[in-house]
Amino acid sequence: MLAETRRYNVLACGRRWGKTTLLVDLAVNAALDGKRVGWFAPTYALLEEAYGRMRRTLEGVITQAAQSPHPRLELYTGGAIEFWTLDDPYKAGRGRAYHLAIVDEAAFAKRLDVAWEESVGPTLTDYRGSAWFASTPKGKNYFFELWSRGQGDDPDWKSWRMPTSTNPHISAEELAARRRSMPELAWRQEYEAEFVDAEGAVIRREWIRVADPPERKALEVYQGVDLAISTREDADYTAVVTVGKDKEGRIWVLDAVRTRETFHRVLELIKSQAARWQPRVIAIEQVQYQAAVVQELLRTTALPVRGVRPDRDKLARAMPLIARYEQGLVYHAPALPKAFEEELTAFPLAEHDDQVDALVYAYQASAGGWGLKPETQRRYAVR
Ligand SMILES: Nc1ncnc2c1ncn2[C@@H]1O[C@H](COP(=O)(O)OP(=O)(O)OP(=O)(O)O)[C@@H](O)[C@H]1O
Ligand SMILES: [Mg+2]
Repeated sequence: MLAETRRYNVLACGRRWGKTTLLVDLAVNAALDGKRVGWFAPTYALLEEAYGRMRRTLEGVITQAAQSPHPRLELYTGGAIEFWTLDDPYKAGRGRAYHLAIVDEAAFAKRLDVAWEESVGPTLTDYRGSAWFASTPKGKNYFFELWSRGQGDDPDWKSWRMPTSTNPHISAEELAARRRSMPELAWRQEYEAEFVDAEGAVIRREWIRVADPPERKALEVYQGVDLAISTREDADYTAVVTVGKDKEGRIWVLDAVRTRETFHRVLELIKSQAARWQPRVIAIEQVQYQAAVVQELLRTTALPVRGVRPDRDKLARAMPLIARYEQGLVYHAPALPKAFEEELTAFPLAEHDDQVDALVYAYQASAGGWGLKPETQRRYAVR
């Protein structure tokens, strides 16, 4: 790859391929050569990782390691590396000039198009600098556009696609085990570095098994709640989904209900579903508008409520559950409403996905997931 380098280079690779290792090497060598380098990443956590690696590598030749106004390393050679997040795609690198711009995990930047055209690109004009974009793909977004440019006949652009398996430091057995534990589509994106379409990421109808669930006492029951933000006609539904886990670890979807009612009615619905199924945990999505629901339930009931904060995007969150469906380990009770299956098989492209979200929360709770214990949450509840 290094032998084939052009002015603009786009590298799509699988997780743990060695992207950051390669980019750090490029940045370090350029800075030792007296060049000015701009390092860009979507989040501060990613920047810190790279900053730490370079600081350790360059120990002894650093004249200044500053944190403000943004992290930077100045070297005896006159070279420097400056670090920017792409949080604000209009601001990164403003007023600077670089010989080399590096964007790690480019596919995850919020507005890579704006960041490149208005912020990162212009930093290269003074020195006719070059750029590297590296990332694991994330569907066909702007990173894919840049990568495609490198496959065309523009002599300034070059791109590569490298599956994780081409990293000789990663064990083939370990990779094979990962592959078995994840949905095919996720594998292709994360480890084969393919630009897959989200359309492929659905739960197929034929994966769904329908059967009479075991007796209630043979199941550990969990509920997930996805709260709607408002009661407007076109707004989302509040959905409550109940799952049971049997001794073999199979998941039974027992019940799914939804409503577009008011705050008070939503509380009543959650309480009645809890009374009906006696769940071990009720995992309720808790983002700013909805914290009141969790607090109210903790204050006025003894229900095993846990507020959960969705961390990743919907699709990423649903992946482990999708894998379960694909493996034939999820069963639906025959009484489930038709609309539930419709929504599930149209995910993630359907208009509504509140029942899928609620199902994912219930599944995560059944998997021993996350969320604070009710006692802890009561202690810190805002009264
Ligand atoms: N050329 C190399 N020489 C030695 N080890 C390497 C090399 N390239 C990669 N590795 C090793 O491979 C692993 C992954 O490296 P790295 O963190 O750079 O990958 P990445 O693609 O950035 O991963 P992620 O997808 O998690 O960001 C690390 O253990 C790293 O030490
Ligand atoms: Mg990396």
